[in-house]
Amino acid sequence: MEATGRALVTGASSGIGRAFAEALAARGHDLVVVARRTERLRELADALQAHGRATDAMAADLSTDDGVAAVAARLTDPSTPIELLVNNAGFGTSGRFWDLDAEREAEEIRLNVQALVVLTHAALTAMVPRGRGGVINVSSVAGYQPTPWGATYGATKAFVSSFTNALHEELRGTGVRMLTLAPGFTHTEFHTVSGDDVSQLPGVLWQSPREVVDAALRAYDRGRAVCTPGPLNTAAAVFSGSMPAGLTRRVAALAQRRSS
Ligand SMILES: NC(=O)c1ccc[n+]([C@@H]2O[C@H](COP(=O)([O-])OP(=O)(O)OC[C@H]3O[C@@H](n4cnc5c(N)ncnc54)[C@H](OP(=O)(O)O)[C@@H]3O)[C@@H](O)[C@H]2O)c1
Repeated sequence: MEATGRALVTGASSGIGRAFAEALAARGHDLVVVARRTERLRELADALQAHGRATDAMAADLSTDDGVAAVAARLTDPSTPIELLVNNAGFGTSGRFWDLDAEREAEEIRLNVQALVVLTHAALTAMVPRGRGGVINVSSVAGYQPTPWGATYGATKAFVSSFTNALHEELRGTGVRMLTLAPGFTHTEFHTVSGDDVSQLPGVLWQSPREVVDAALRAYDRGRAVCTPGPLNTAAAVFSGSMPAGLTRRVAALAQRRSS
């Protein structure tokens, strides 16, 4: 990465977000780390002192308007500009759609979609006039096709991929980068939160958060539009993109039913 300014990472209290914060601090970025669990953020800020980087821990619930507004204000504050935004905070729900709690489904859309759109907008209003900076939006391989038994989650990630890919093109020539990161199964707290039983899935399908983040930062450095980390996830993405929709929908249903 050419410039090492300040980076803001949402969902940094765990998993992929924490790995982003650690990798970016190691690369020389000061950080603003955002999540709800303040104790976790404080512990992370202490750990990042080892890299000699300044870390602000910002507690915010990004499923609420107030939480999103506070982080958007931080992104547009000209006194402490943000060079890189990582929209990583997100969660999934798993099960038959009509059995799931409707308010939890709506919260999933507010966090995975609405917060990401508002924060991307705030970041770009500051970055485009400066002619530099970037945004990494964390999607999922679940966004490459409909995701039965995870219908809302897959749809939120399809939105993230489409939205971010469109902006990648709009930003050509501005000096600002935009990357879609679409991981597959990654060892984090995600599946505990979603209630997915993934205990039977073979180890070969899994990546560590660090592997996902290293692939993402390599792609970001090269100005790529999309990063699907790992050969198996890349193959799954190619399959979903090249096969008839009816077939990918059925395969996704079979795969998802095994893990829910
Ligand atoms: N793990 C996978 O297999 C996988 C695969 C593909 C894509 N992804 C995507 O990767 C991203 C990171 O997930 P992860 O796997 O690292 O899961 P994780 O370990 O559960 O981390 C999720 C992060 O999001 C934060 N978060 C959740 N709700 C929030 C809210 N309302 N406001 C602010 N922050 C909130 C959590 O912090 P607090 O609870 O402290 O708020 C936590 O830091 C997500 O967008 C997920 O969809 C994950």
